[in-house]
Amino acid sequence: MTTADVREKFLDFFGSKEHKTIKSSSLLSDDPSVLLTTAGVQQFKPYYTGDLDSEKDFGSRRVASVQKCFRTTDIDEVGDETHLTFFEMLGNFSFADYGKEDAIKWGYEFITKELGVSSDRLTVTVFEGKNEVPRDEDSYRIWNEVIGLPKDKIEYALWDNFWGPTGNKGPCGPTTEIYIDGIEVWNIVFNEYFCEGSREDLLSGKAQLNKLAEPGVDTGMGLERLVAVLSGVNNVYETDLFSLIIDILPSDLSDEGKRILADHGRGIAFLISDGVTPSNKEAGYILRRLIRRIITKAPEFDFSQLLNKVVKLYDSHYQELDREKILNVFDEESKKFKKTLVKGIRELNKLDEINAQSAFKLYESFGLPYEVIKDLGGQKASKLQQKDFEKEFVKHQEISRAGKEKKFGGHGLLLDTGELKAGSEDEIKQVTRLHTATHLLQQALRDVLGDEVKQKGSDITTKRTRFDFSFSRKLTTDEVEKVEKIINNKIQASLPVQYEELPLNEAKKTGALYYFKEKYPDPVKVYYVGSSLEGAYSKEFCGGPHVTNTEEIGRFKIIKEESVGAGMRRIRGTLE
Ligand code: ALA
Repeated sequence: MTTADVREKFLDFFGSKEHKTIKSSSLLSDDPSVLLTTAGVQQFKPYYTGDLDSEKDFGSRRVASVQKCFRTTDIDEVGDETHLTFFEMLGNFSFADYGKEDAIKWGYEFITKELGVSSDRLTVTVFEGKNEVPRDEDSYRIWNEVIGLPKDKIEYALWDNFWGPTGNKGPCGPTTEIYIDGIEVWNIVFNEYFCEGSREDLLSGKAQLNKLAEPGVDTGMGLERLVAVLSGVNNVYETDLFSLIIDILPSDLSDEGKRILADHGRGIAFLISDGVTPSNKEAGYILRRLIRRIITKAPEFDFSQLLNKVVKLYDSHYQELDREKILNVFDEESKKFKKTLVKGIRELNKLDEINAQSAFKLYESFGLPYEVIKDLGGQKASKLQQKDFEKEFVKHQEISRAGKEKKFGGHGLLLDTGELKAGSEDEIKQVTRLHTATHLLQQALRDVLGDEVKQKGSDITTKRTRFDFSFSRKLTTDEVEKVEKIINNKIQASLPVQYEELPLNEAKKTGALYYFKEKYPDPVKVYYVGSSLEGAYSKEFCGGPHVTNTEEIGRFKIIKEESVGAGMRRIRGTLE
């Protein structure tokens, strides 16, 4: 089944259930609290609160859409088999019209009848209940008794199954999620509440939930992931449209490079068509970053081929794609960047040795990304380490980013530095505490789930740590609680945190964990939590910084556990 088939089937199916098809809204959202549209529901937020009347605007209380979405949080992770910046989201919506039973019945019918997925391949989750929001026994009953899904295929889960709000306030509610072969494909949200604060406020107990006068339904299904599952591939880049894009990319580029070009090419075409132009702030900055990144990945490539291909593959569904504008804007930015690129290279050639300070200067003045400096610098940059470059970045960050960060929904993308992000002494303290907590998290996960758990990535801001790891299934609530408890016990035990610098070979023999993707210096620092390296609770290769005693961390809390692709989980945690 092709991507176009799935889009059409979805809209036809919900059309047959009296849903009016609504065009995707722009990537530049009307909602001032977010930078770019991240979900189908964004354009419909006011219809749940009664601020707008769907009957009046759409002639219906039921609508369906295929929405263009852009999630900036994963920008650095694009290159693997699952992460995307731009993606399409299928969704059906009810504004004070149908409720749980129809939403679930139609979801099930669409997946099994229209898409032909056998019900054996399905599992679902429903909301477990927390504070004033009760356990969603209705959904459980509907899945089990009305649909006939066996009980061992239905699981209760906590915050994964409570969606929203987007931005700084809005509708939200419990969800039921549908998984095919263990991969989450569909999120069916029962909007029953209005949250007077952001999701982070909600999870930390600071935001108030008010019941909406009339409940509604909001669903979201990522099209690319769905098509991958239907096509029996794990890799979204092996689906029909992406394959056609990848085919025209330079054959000497790595797989990672091709995926970055393919993903960013789509993002660039859609952002420009929605009126974004490259700049140093907000959406313009995202666009600039996408453009610069692909140019440095393939400086000789004629990108008009890529952009033309995107337009060709998508313009039958998205008529707004404007070939001429896309090529012009891209070309102009490309010329500008190539000019500074040449100056930057000239500057780089003048240096005898490239250290973290000079590398950062090249980045700041000429926009040369780290990888480019490392590549072009060759021998001269042999001692340059990403970690030191990032530390330089941290030092130079402006505190003024607080306001910007709000716009980014707390992800601070503008000043993205790799694993740690901070802009002032206080922020550095905060990310340092979260950093040590992340080491404890990895070890606690291994204690509870076994050695299958291996770090795949980590990203720390002043507000939260985000830790990706290999593991084959969803964690139970009990497991999440156990992990949290172990971490807090270790914190309360006031364990010292220290490091020893050892030759790489010896360091590996200590049993310390290391991240396979990373190139470590020799000698390498092994950070450990406990009074001796031998008996330490946690040991990892790491450049720091860390607290000197676990008691400095405070209380750690897991706020979300989710899938980020087959065999990969993600945990977000914060400090209370
Ligand atoms: N709004 C929900 C989501 O984005 C459906 O997952």
